[in-house]
Formats: sequence, structure tokens, C-alpha cells
Amino acid sequence: MTSSAASSAFPAGFFWGAATAGHQIEGSNVLSDHWVLENVPGSPFVEPSGDACDSYHRFAEDIALLAEAGLGTYRFSVEWSRIEPEPGTFSRAELEHYRRMVAACHEAGVMPMVTLQHFTTPAWFARAGAWNNPEAPALFARYCAAVAEHFGDAVTWYCTLNEPNLGAMLSLGGMVPMAALEDVTAAASMAPAVRHAFATRVGGDVDTVEFGHPMRVLTTEAIETVKEAHRLGRAAVKRANPRAKVGWTLALVDFQSAPGGEEITAQVRELGCAQFLQISREDDFIGVQSYSRQVLGAEGPVPLADDTPLTQTGWEVYPEALGNSVRWAAEVARVPVVVTENGMATADDAARIAHTKAALESLRQAMADGVDVRGYVHWSLLDNFEWHSGYAMTFGLVAVDRTTFVRTPKPSLHWLGTVARSNGAAL
Ligand code: NOJ
Repeated sequence: MTSSAASSAFPAGFFWGAATAGHQIEGSNVLSDHWVLENVPGSPFVEPSGDACDSYHRFAEDIALLAEAGLGTYRFSVEWSRIEPEPGTFSRAELEHYRRMVAACHEAGVMPMVTLQHFTTPAWFARAGAWNNPEAPALFARYCAAVAEHFGDAVTWYCTLNEPNLGAMLSLGGMVPMAALEDVTAAASMAPAVRHAFATRVGGDVDTVEFGHPMRVLTTEAIETVKEAHRLGRAAVKRANPRAKVGWTLALVDFQSAPGGEEITAQVRELGCAQFLQISREDDFIGVQSYSRQVLGAEGPVPLADDTPLTQTGWEVYPEALGNSVRWAAEVARVPVVVTENGMATADDAARIAHTKAALESLRQAMADGVDVRGYVHWSLLDNFEWHSGYAMTFGLVAVDRTTFVRTPKPSLHWLGTVARSNGAAL
């Protein structure tokens, strides 16, 4: 295809949206493993999530902001610990809460895309060993079935697990791109006293209790368990809704090799990403989450030059990672791609717009070269709780006042909405 093809609008039916995750925006997610860890003495988190953005109560306002701006898709997650507070006990009231969210999307003309597990798990799941528990896939699938049966045909697009490959990247030790996974390290290296406090609070044995978040090193067995959880979760959703489109979302760092780093790069790509992409060959789509790149030399990550532009999270500003990551994901997974996350933590909203524009240009070029991409979902709709790093990292298209929860749209929301309304022609 020529570059003039690359400058035309996106294909008809291409969807545009923004994403959030329950724990990062809802507030008071008290039955989750995360809430416990954030609140134990010595917690590795810089601050607890607390009330977050109070979106549990303000979801209608959030959806209206997204819709009025011109975005047509809202990716959000439902909270397992609210829906299944005790093993096998499902809360009809919480399922109804999320059904109302789905209904609010439809009323606003927005397509809901539901993530079933976005890092947090119920405290009881942690007590049972989280992803080290061989029963975990069946437990996860039982929960997926409850959600999908309740939603019926009101939800078509589902993501099972969010970024299950983070833990695999961590298990690569010195080869891990630490700059891109900075958050991970503190949460993963839980000090023994913290681990003990966590185990006590969730009511389990310190040797078997596991934080369910993938931001910790996953053993090879746990990686296989996570893959099986995806397979069983997907089957459960499909049984409840045969027309559902199911996939999972992977953290796809754009790994590039410096001279001499070819072997390491291949190894990191295989263990950190490709083994998860191969599982996706039976999915309806692969969710690509792209933020930056990592250059690997013979000794591991190549240090960044002092003048390299960085985001608030310390990641290199490198928007072209998006085009590279969708190309590679499509090649390995051989299924359609949905960009389920892409964005930038910055206080400079003009920089966010420039970054997103460049990322979308690289995406459009990849599509012009033949990659089948169905939609683009920006991270994030709101400034929210950035896990270990807390609230100082601002990824949102909308600012949220930390005291009043008042939402203030940023120019980037209007800009992305305009791009969406024109299906990319206004880029
Ligand atoms: C990926 C995660 O899914 C999301 O929860 C997180 O906030 C963003 N990346 C930014 O780090």
C-alpha cells in the first residue's frame, strides 16, 4: 500500500474508545487482595487506593463524558471480589450493579468491553494460593460463567485476564526491561514482614498465600495455570453467549535488539510475550497494550541516554511502539488485533495529544501494510490509581479532583473524540 492509503480514514466499523479498571477508579474495593496489601504496615504501595475516583457511584457521569466527547467504546473491568465475595457465593446486587453499567453504556450509544480480571482478585483467592493453586482455572471459569450469564447478549466483547504476561517478564530476572515495568518490582519483592501481615489479614498460611496480581514473579507452573484459566474462562463466556468475542490483553513492550542483543531479545520476546500470544490463536482477538519500547544488548537492557524524554512513569517516550507491537502480535497470534490500551502518564496534556497522534499514525501505517486491527482504546478515561505508584501518575483524558471527585475533561478528550467522530480522518 502507498502512503496515501495510510493517510485515509480508518476502515468502516473501526471502534474508538477509552479504558479504565475497577480497582483503579471505583473506590473501597475492600474484599480484594490488593486492598489488603495496600493497607498493611510497610505496604510497598506509595499510597492506598481508598476512594479512587468514586466511579462505583459515578459511572453514569464517566460514561456520559466519554460518549459526549465522541468515543463509542468503554472498556472497563468488573470486580471479582465484589461479585464473588466468598468462594461460590455470588452477589446478585453486585452483578446487577455491573448490569446497570452495561445498560448505561447502551443508553449512551457506547459499546461495553468487559475485562473479567484486571489485576485484583478476591482475598479468598489469595488465601487459596492465587495462580499457584491448581484449582485456579476452574475457580476463575466459574466466576466468568456467572458474569457472562448475567449479562446475556448485552455484552459482546470480553477480555478474560489483563496482562497475565507481566509475571513471566519478571521471571526473566536481569533481562527484564525494568524501565518499562518499574511498578512491578516493589510489589513483587514483598518484604517478609509485609508478606506475613498480608497472610494474616487474608487469613491464610504465609507459605501458601499469594497476591493474585501478576506483578510478581510467576513460576512456570503458575504461567501454565494462568493460560488454562484463560482457556476455561473463554469457554465459560462462550457457553453463556455464543456470539461473544473473547480474547485477553497482553503487555507488549516493543523489544528491540541492539547489536549483540539478538539472542536475548528473542528469548525475552518468547518467554515474556510470544508464549501468551500463541495461546491466542484460538481467540477472537488479541488485546495489545503498548506504552514504550525496550532496547536489549548482549548484557540486557541498554541504559537510556540522559536526555531521553521520559513519561511520569519513567518510560521512554516512543509512540511508534504501538505500530511495531500490533505488527508483531498479529504475526504471532494470527488473529485480529484490538488496541486495548495505549497512552502516556504526563502532566502535559499537549504532550499526550502529540504522543497519541504519533502512536495512531504508526497504527494506521501498520494497518495500511495489512494488519487487521479492529479498534483503538485509550488508557485511560480518567486520572486514576496507578497501582504501586499511586495517584501522581496522570494517564487520563479527564482530570479527577482528589477531594471532590469533580471531573474536568482535558483537551485530549475533545481531541480524541474529534478523531473518533471522523474515524481517523481528523488525525
Ligand atoms: C497497564 C494496566 O493494564 C493498567 O492497569 C495500567 O494502569 C497501565 N498499564 C499503565 O501502567
